[in-house]
Amino acid sequence: MSVVPDFYDGTGQAVREARFEPLTLECLDALLAVEQAAYSHPWTKRNFLDTLDAGHQVQCLFAGEELLGYFVAMTGVDEVHLLNITVAPAHQRQGWALVMLDALVLWARGQGAQWVWLEVRVSNTRAQEVYLRRGFVRVGQRKAYYPAADGQREDAVVMSLAL
Ligand SMILES: CC(C)(COP(=O)(O)OP(=O)(O)OC[C@H]1O[C@@H](n2cnc3c(N)ncnc32)[C@H](O)[C@@H]1OP(=O)(O)O)[C@@H](O)C(=O)NCCC(=O)NCCS
Repeated sequence: MSVVPDFYDGTGQAVREARFEPLTLECLDALLAVEQAAYSHPWTKRNFLDTLDAGHQVQCLFAGEELLGYFVAMTGVDEVHLLNITVAPAHQRQGWALVMLDALVLWARGQGAQWVWLEVRVSNTRAQEVYLRRGFVRVGQRKAYYPAADGQREDAVVMSLAL
C-alpha cells in the first residue's frame, strides 16, 4: 500500500511518497531504535519477536529507506486491538499517525472487525487527541495498567472506534 501526502521530513525535505511494509527481521533494529527514542518504557526486542510469532499485524511506514513509524495490531472476536503505534520523533506532528490509523481501520474492516480498541496512558494526552480526531471515544479506564517511573504504575484510558 502506498500513500502520497505532501508532508515534510525532520530536515525540511519533502516526503512525497511513503509505503507500508510488514515488519521483517531485517528492519527490526531500525524499529527498536525508534521505539527506544519514542517511549519512557519501550517494548523490548523480545516483545516484537513474540508479536511476530503470534502472527499479529505489524506494519512499518517507510519513506525511501527511512522508517517513519509503525503499528502493531491483533484480531479478536469482532474486534481489532491496537497494541502499539509509534511515529519516529523527527517525523511527529506531520500527520503520519493519522495515515497509520487510516491504514489500521482499512485493515480492520478487511478482517470483518466491528470495533477497534486501544489503551493509552492517562498522561499521553497528545496520543489521545490524535485518536479523538480519528473518531475514537473514551470508554473506560484500567487501573495501574502501565509501568511508570520509580516503580509506580499508571492508569490506561481505554478508547474504541465503531467501524
Ligand atoms: C502519538 C503519536 C503516535 C502521534 O503521531 P504524530 O505523527 O505526531 O501525529 P499526527 O501528526 O498524525 O497527528 C495529527 C497532527 O498532524 C497535523 N497535521 C495534519 N496534516 C499535516 C500536514 N500536512 N503537515 C503537518 N502537520 C499535519 C494535525 O494538524 C495534527 O497536529 P496537531 O497535533 O498540531 O493538532 C506520536 O506522538 C508518537 O509516536 N508518540 C510516542 C509514542 C506514543 O505515545 N504512541 C501512542 C501510544 S498509545
